[in-house]
Order: sequence, then C-alpha cells, then structure tokens
Amino acid sequence: MRLSTDKFFFLSFFIFSLLFLSATARPFVLVLSQDDLTDAAPSAADDDGASSSTSDWDEFGDSDTKREEELDPGSWRPIFEPDSELADPATDDEAMYYSGVTKMVTAVSSGDPRLMEEAAAEIEAAAAGGYPHAQSALGFLYNMGVTRERNGAKAFMYHHFAANGGNMQSKMALAYTYSRQDMYDKAVKLYAELAEVAVNSFLISKDSPVIEPIRIHNGAEENKEALRKSRGEEDEDFQILEYQAQKGNALAMYKIGIFYYFGLRGLRRDHVKALSWFSKAVDKGEPRSMELLGEIYARGAGVERNYTKAFEWLKLASRQQLYSAYNGMGYLYVKGYGVDKKNNTKAKEYFEKAAENEEAGGNYNLGVMYLKGIGVKRDVKLACKFFILAANKGQPKAFYQLAKMFHTGVGLKLNLPMATGLYKLVAERGPWSSLS
Ligand SMILES: *[C@@H]1O[C@H](CO)[C@@H](O)[C@H](O)[C@H]1NC(C)=O
Ligand SMILES: *[C@@H]1O[C@H](CO)[C@@H](O)[C@H](O)[C@H]1NC(C)=O
Repeated sequence: MRLSTDKFFFLSFFIFSLLFLSATARPFVLVLSQDDLTDAAPSAADDDGASSSTSDWDEFGDSDTKREEELDPGSWRPIFEPDSELADPATDDEAMYYSGVTKMVTAVSSGDPRLMEEAAAEIEAAAAGGYPHAQSALGFLYNMGVTRERNGAKAFMYHHFAANGGNMQSKMALAYTYSRQDMYDKAVKLYAELAEVAVNSFLISKDSPVIEPIRIHNGAEENKEALRKSRGEEDEDFQILEYQAQKGNALAMYKIGIFYYFGLRGLRRDHVKALSWFSKAVDKGEPRSMELLGEIYARGAGVERNYTKAFEWLKLASRQQLYSAYNGMGYLYVKGYGVDKKNNTKAKEYFEKAAENEEAGGNYNLGVMYLKGIGVKRDVKLACKFFILAANKGQPKAFYQLAKMFHTGVGLKLNLPMATGLYKLVAERGPWSSLS
C-alpha cells in the first residue's frame, strides 16, 4: 500500500499537534445571559453539595512541578529530544511502542511507506499486548486511515482501552467524540479530568507562556515552516536570537531563557541554560525575567526552592510596572511563604493592584478569594463576575472555574454543553496538546 502525499501531511499534522487543533488560541468571548446566573444565591448552603468537586482542588495549590511523563504518559517528546533521559523501557511492549513511534516519525520525514508499515505493525503488536499508549496510537491510525483502513468503530475501541489505561491523548479523542455526538454527560467528565491536570500544570502568577504550538496545515510550505521551527538550536531564527542575546539584548536573553525553560521550538528543555539567560537578563533590568525567576524559585524547578528569593524577584519585577508579578506576591501572602506572615488583606490588595492594571490573573485570584471566602466573606456571585472578567481576557484558569460552576450548578445554572466547551478549552492547553 502506498501512502498518498495527502496522508503524509495528515500524519505530520497528527504528529506535531496530536490532534484537535481547534486547540489554537482563538479569542474566546464568553457571553452569559441573565438566565445563566442562578438566583438561588448559592451561598454557604451549597458548600457541602459542591464540595466533592469544588474543594478538592486547591486553587492556591503548591503547584509542585510534575514531570512531563506523569502528566502525559507515553508522550512522544523523548523521541524529539533524543538525548533526553529515555528511561529504559519497563516492558517489551513499551520498547516496541517507542520503536514503532520512532520509525513512524522517521517514515514521515523521509516519506518511506515501507517503514511506515513496519512502524504500524510494531505499534499494533504493542497494542495487542495491552500497552495503552500503543492502543492510543493505533486508535489514531484507524481514525485517519493511515496504514489501516479507516474505521471509526475500531478507533473508538482502541481509544477507549487506551483512555482506561491512562492515555491522555485518547481521553481527548474520546471526549471530543462524545461532545460531537452531544453526549455531554460523558464528555464533561473526561474534559473535567483533563482540564484539572492541565490547570495544575499552569504557572502561579501568570498565564502559561507556552506559546504558539506548532501547527501544520495542508500546504507543503507551511509544513516545512513548522518542521523548520522544531529544529531547536539548528534553527536560523534561534541562532539570530542567540546572537542578539550574546550581544547584550536583554529581551533576546529573556526569550531564549523561556525557550530553554519550557523546551519550546524543538529545543531540549534545559533549566541550567534557562537560568543562566534569565540571570543575565535581570542584570540588565529585564522585568519579565525577574518575574520568571520568582516563579522558578517558588516552584523549585531547576533550583532549590526558596520562597524568600521568589518574593524578592517578584517585588523587583512589580517595581518595574510588571503588574502580573503582583499575583505571585499575593499568592505568597495567601500561603504565608517567603513573607513575615500570612496576610490575606495584603494578598487581596496585590490582586487588586494586578486587576486594576488589566492583569487577568488579578481578577482570577480575586474570584478565588470570593469563591472560597479567603480573607473576605464568601460570595459566589461576585466570584463568578471576577471569573468572567478574567475569562474574557483569555485566562484559562478562569475558564476552568466557570466550567466547574456550569458543571455543578454552583454560581451558574447547570449547563453541561457549556461546561464541556469551557473544560475543553483548558484541556487543550495541557502538556499533551503540542510538542512545540
Ligand atoms: C533563601 O534566600 C535567602 C535570600 O536570598 C537567603 O538568605 C536564604 O539563606 C535562602 N535559604 C535557603 C534555605 O537557601
Ligand atoms: C496585613 O496587611 C494589611 C494591609 O497591608 C495591614 O494593614 C495589616 O496590618 C497586616 N496584618 C498583619 C497581621 O500583619
């Protein structure tokens, strides 16, 4: 069987975006009518009823950085980062899966259909052995009719097995299938689970800077462009940026730091290099790097966690009118980390400062305070207002809160299609959504 060119584009599309490219950050304006707001002021009385779904997630959580492998098991990232620590496969099926996927990636870039068939056979063998990530990949092959005759029922079955085995891509695929068929009760559960993992992977003080997932369209040129962009240090744009940074351009230093820190643009994640570039940038007074250092010290990602240092950097950033840094400072005051002592009044002042300066995160954090009654009297309606403000500025965590309100009927009228759509927007920003 020969793969048509079309299928190759399709497949590379699949590889780089792992589906559901509705994931692209399109502007989203939430329009709610009076009907959506519940009248039965769901004050403290609703506490218990909703607690199962609204209080098990700590909005001001400690956000320990989880490894990618935990968030997105079976991820293809190790294949694109050949020298990353690809742990020795635990089972033969796992070895077979990674071998199959590696061959598939090679087959796509070299256009070799025989290798593609070989890859698919290995993936199928691993799937037959019950390895969920292989079942997931096989599901996608059946979905798209690549190397296998297109078969929606088989695709669904493999995704179903894979999702039960913990594969996130397949959960996304199933949720999408359910929502397309208006089976919102099923879709909402899967999307809620995915969204929760995604939201926990976001940064504390600001929206995740994980920008511009690699997109591959149907046109050959765009494919080339996307592939080129995934070439990491080999990429010309990156080299220009690096040259500018070496010449002392602070913004370029910041950008390179971000690329290394998050492993964007095909670069291998490298916290040491990131930290070194951020440190150079802050020497030049670059405020966003100060904020990032605050974030890094608060998370203890790549450095020893030190809340005192985190607070110092955030404060320096805030003094340079980087208002998002106030969110991080407020967070530390809510937790009582790196500051004299916990002070919710002060936290609120910082969140207000951020909100007044058009920082959606400030609105979001105020919403959480009112939702939970932290330092203020609990007021779900007011919380909802703040979340809507933040959501309309594109804050994904606010989508998450509103989705939960629609899902549980607390603060907003129960609305599963709406909950599904909002969770979906958040889930699509999870680490499984792009390899960029
Ligand atoms: C944390 O940072 C502060 C300020 O830089 C420093 O005084 C303190 O010793 C650090 N704490 C630890 C545990 O390293
Ligand atoms: C908390 O912060 C507020 C506002 O900055 C301040 O007036 C108050 O004294 C602080 N409370 C404590 C216990 O430190």
